[in-house]
Amino acid sequence: MEEIFEGVYRRGKQIFTYNGKKYRAWNPYRSKMAAAILKGLKEMWIGKDTKILYLGVATGTTVSHLADIAKDGIIYGVEISFKAMKKFVKLCKERDNLIPILGDASKPSSYAAIVENIDLIYQDISQKNQVEIFLKNMERFKAPKGIIMVKARSIDVAMEPKEVFKKVREQIDKFYRVKQMINLSPYAKDHVAILVEKD
Ligand SMILES: C[S@@+](CC[C@H](N)C(=O)[O-])C[C@H]1O[C@@H](n2cnc3c(N)ncnc32)[C@H](O)[C@@H]1O
Repeated sequence: MEEIFEGVYRRGKQIFTYNGKKYRAWNPYRSKMAAAILKGLKEMWIGKDTKILYLGVATGTTVSHLADIAKDGIIYGVEISFKAMKKFVKLCKERDNLIPILGDASKPSSYAAIVENIDLIYQDISQKNQVEIFLKNMERFKAPKGIIMVKARSIDVAMEPKEVFKKVREQIDKFYRVKQMINLSPYAKDHVAILVEKD
């Protein structure tokens, strides 16, 4: 097993995280962050002390791996669906670095009192206004870094994904420096991961 980033391991074509007891296979078809790593992520912004605001945490598939990596950090997981949140809360009980927030990511003020001093925003929300939501949170929490998983078809079903990604990039470029854009195919079709940094 080779450590390719802090807390991320590789054996052959598979990647893993370590939860203190065992290595857990990280499935790129189920987790866009794993897909981004396998598709050539250059810098891993999540390390053992990272404090993350995760928007669209769902039931916690990806966040469980991020929690393995950021074992001495903290991850606030925001999710709008009560059903998904119920499952995520169970995971939070097993991990002391996860904090569940049932809320709407388009209203960052509603959870701002709970979230403090974060290093990074990670967003995976398949909504039409996903970029606006991301920029709003980046601004509200003065996040130095951000990773957004963009789904072209949620933004515009009719437009070519390439065109959607170009427009999204222009939108983000106005406020942040885009460090890397990674096409997640074949793991996630018509998706890109965009890594942004404050100047
Ligand atoms: C693609 S899934 C996330 C999968 C998850 N990130 C993972 O990799 O394990 C998108 C999630 O965003 C949630 N969502 C959609 N709109 C939201 C909003 N305004 N605020 C918070 N969560 C939202 C959905 O309920 C859904 O669970």
